Amino acid sequence: MHSIHTQVGIVGAGPAGLLLSHLLHLEGIESVVIEAHSRQYVEGRIRAGVLEQGTVDLLIATGVGDRLRQEGLLHHGIYLSFDGRRHRIDLTGLSGGRSITVYAQHELLKDLIQARIDAGGQILFEAPAVSLRDLDTATPAIGFRQDGQLHELACDFIAGCDGNHGMCRPSLPEGRLAVYERLYPFAWLGILAEAPPTSEELVYGYHERGFALFSMRSPKITRLYLQCPRDEEIANWPDDRIWGELRTRFATSDGWAPAHGPIVHKGITEMRGLVVEPMQYRNLFLAGDAAHIVPPTGAKGLNLAVADVRVLAGALAEFYTSGRRRLLDQYSKTCLRRVWKVQRFSWWMTSMLHRFEGDGGFDQRRQLAELDYLTSSQAAMTALAENYVGLPIEGC
Ligand code: FAD
Ligand code: DHB
Repeated sequence: MHSIHTQVGIVGAGPAGLLLSHLLHLEGIESVVIEAHSRQYVEGRIRAGVLEQGTVDLLIATGVGDRLRQEGLLHHGIYLSFDGRRHRIDLTGLSGGRSITVYAQHELLKDLIQARIDAGGQILFEAPAVSLRDLDTATPAIGFRQDGQLHELACDFIAGCDGNHGMCRPSLPEGRLAVYERLYPFAWLGILAEAPPTSEELVYGYHERGFALFSMRSPKITRLYLQCPRDEEIANWPDDRIWGELRTRFATSDGWAPAHGPIVHKGITEMRGLVVEPMQYRNLFLAGDAAHIVPPTGAKGLNLAVADVRVLAGALAEFYTSGRRRLLDQYSKTCLRRVWKVQRFSWWMTSMLHRFEGDGGFDQRRQLAELDYLTSSQAAMTALAENYVGLPIEGC
């Protein structure tokens, strides 16, 4: 078996793992990232698209924001569509000048991978981690497979950034983690269409047939989502049915509608809320989707991953400069305070905008009243805006 050593062993080259490696490098801390998939797969996987102001500021301040600044789409508001009308929420006006930026997650990953490679950083692709050992000691290690052989990465700390289906979370000794979970009884069908966006800002739609979301990726590509049943088969959604359902759910008196175009990607996303406590065991730290999942309404998953690794990088920097574990020991507590607030916001957006099976006229009228209140109350819109553009990151 071949063994290598580094200061921080990172499992997973998603936003959490790659950004952590980049931030550690800026602090003079060495890391190695181990990724199960190929570079091509990681750079092509279609996922998130909305970056909070704090995420954008961090990427620019740490030198990986050039393309984001050129190609990202700056948004100052969103629309809520219900009862045949669209209502704008002025995010920037209500949040003291903050905004969001639409920039595809896989474009951000390309930027982070390039930055690590340019700086001589090590990312091992097609190298799935298979075991973690000696987590109780000062010399933990990650066992991984590459080119059909078993290897070992010995390190001072392990960062579990391997997402919802990774191996770090289940590697903790039995009984060390409490798991809090909610499965939502529906899913999202998402498409990418080669069609120019017909609204400059996102449209979140509530309709008696279910939720719909209009987003975008570029001046030529529209991103659209529809609430659909859980465990839905993609084969049940031919293109005509998707366009028909979007037309119905977005129908408003101003005649606005998304433009049609060839559908170049279709996928189904389950809706889940999950938090593990604590996000740390000895020298293993969980970050991003490995520690928590939020339902996608509100666009928070990637941004939460960024917030976690920002806290973790700061704590590791304190350790390596002073030997103190104060921030490392507070890592879980610091992150969880924000994680639960974001979980609450995602749950609230999801509950307000989706149709729940079994809900009757009472619930529908209650949801419409909530949307009516929200879009007519400055206080309520301000609460949405400050959460949507991103809550402050504590401990930094
Ligand atoms: P991941 O991105 O899942 O990365 C984990 C990495 O670990 C993967 O590359 C995986 O291959 C690797 N890995 C797994 N197991 C192993 C192993 N054993 N060994 C080595 N590597 C391993 N969030 C937002 O903020 N805004 C949005 O607009 C938004 N929209 C979304 C839309 C959709 C359709 C979906 C599915 C998600 C969306 N999200 C959004 C959520 C966001 O994509 C995730 O929260 C984000 O990817 C989490 O990053 P991560 O680095 O923690 O995990
Ligand atoms: C997108 C995804 C979301 O979950 C959301 O709330 C807004 C936009 C997107 O993929 O563009």
